[in-house]
Amino acid sequence: MDTHDHAPTPATIKPAAPAPVPANGAHANGNGNGHSIVEVKLKALYYGSFKAVRDTDLAIKRNAITAFIGPSGCGKSTVLRSINRMNDLVRGFRFDGHIHFRGRDIYDTKIDPVAVRRHIGMVFQQPNPFAMSIYRNVTFGLRLNGYKGNIQDKVEQALRGSALWDEVKEKLHQSGLALSGGQQQRLCIARAIATEPEVLLMDEPCSALDPVATRKIEELMLELKKRFTIITVTHNLQQAKRVADMTGFLYVDTTQGARTGYLVEYGPTEGIFNDPKEKHTKDYIQGAFS
Ligand SMILES: Nc1ncnc2c1ncn2[C@@H]1O[C@H](COP(=O)(O)OP(=O)(O)OP(=O)(O)O)[C@@H](O)[C@H]1O
Ligand SMILES: [Mg+2]
Repeated sequence: MDTHDHAPTPATIKPAAPAPVPANGAHANGNGNGHSIVEVKLKALYYGSFKAVRDTDLAIKRNAITAFIGPSGCGKSTVLRSINRMNDLVRGFRFDGHIHFRGRDIYDTKIDPVAVRRHIGMVFQQPNPFAMSIYRNVTFGLRLNGYKGNIQDKVEQALRGSALWDEVKEKLHQSGLALSGGQQQRLCIARAIATEPEVLLMDEPCSALDPVATRKIEELMLELKKRFTIITVTHNLQQAKRVADMTGFLYVDTTQGARTGYLVEYGPTEGIFNDPKEKHTKDYIQGAFS
């Protein structure tokens, strides 16, 4: 079993070679079937000496929305952040297992974590536009990547893609911070998709938004899954039912004083909600809806 010990990344790490895509889109190795793009196999994950997550294995379907649900502290964000190496930034983070993206181990020492994040983008819980214009927010990643194409077209494309263009096209040079919360979140989505990642991670992207803005983001997610693979975390089970093709239920059993989360059940959303196999899943879903 590999053990990945992640102090902040040494500057000597070589840039990643492009991830090879097997001709049929299947994993070069691992258990993923022809439709999976990310394979998560976490035997144990630690922050320092604290074991935060254990036994969490799942294959993420391409061009689908996968939702992680479960009680607070069960490790949803931790698992999500490990998929684009965001946890590398946390001192003491390490895990036993592997995460493959298109059949390649993203924690391989030859892989640059910044390159991983270009392929696997992220949208956070609190909308976090940079303190700069709407336009520059969208071009930020493109400039970082040294994009040489038509940048104005790219901005329009990303803002249309995030269903924000019509609301901001007259004020592209105003501050991104002057937008409403829902608009700010769509701006963050535009910023994330401008560089055309293949996977978008969204950690409770609607929890700071009102119901109308939430529905707008949900509709957008359904549109975006045609072009991207989305992995999201939500506390809102109705939201998981509305948008997710696949759902993973994580749980943390605190009765014995332990606080290690794990994946209890994973499968098509309808099955998880209407015919859960595990008692913990049943209890959680019944509790939430009763
Ligand atoms: N940076 C960190 N350093 C140390 N422990 C952490 C860190 N981040 C999370 N943890 C711990 O790991 C466990 C899982 O946390 P995580 O944030 O992944 O849970 P979550 O399911 O996303 O919870 P919530 O629904 O409240 O967002 C918790 O016990 C938490 O305290
Ligand atoms: Mg969380």
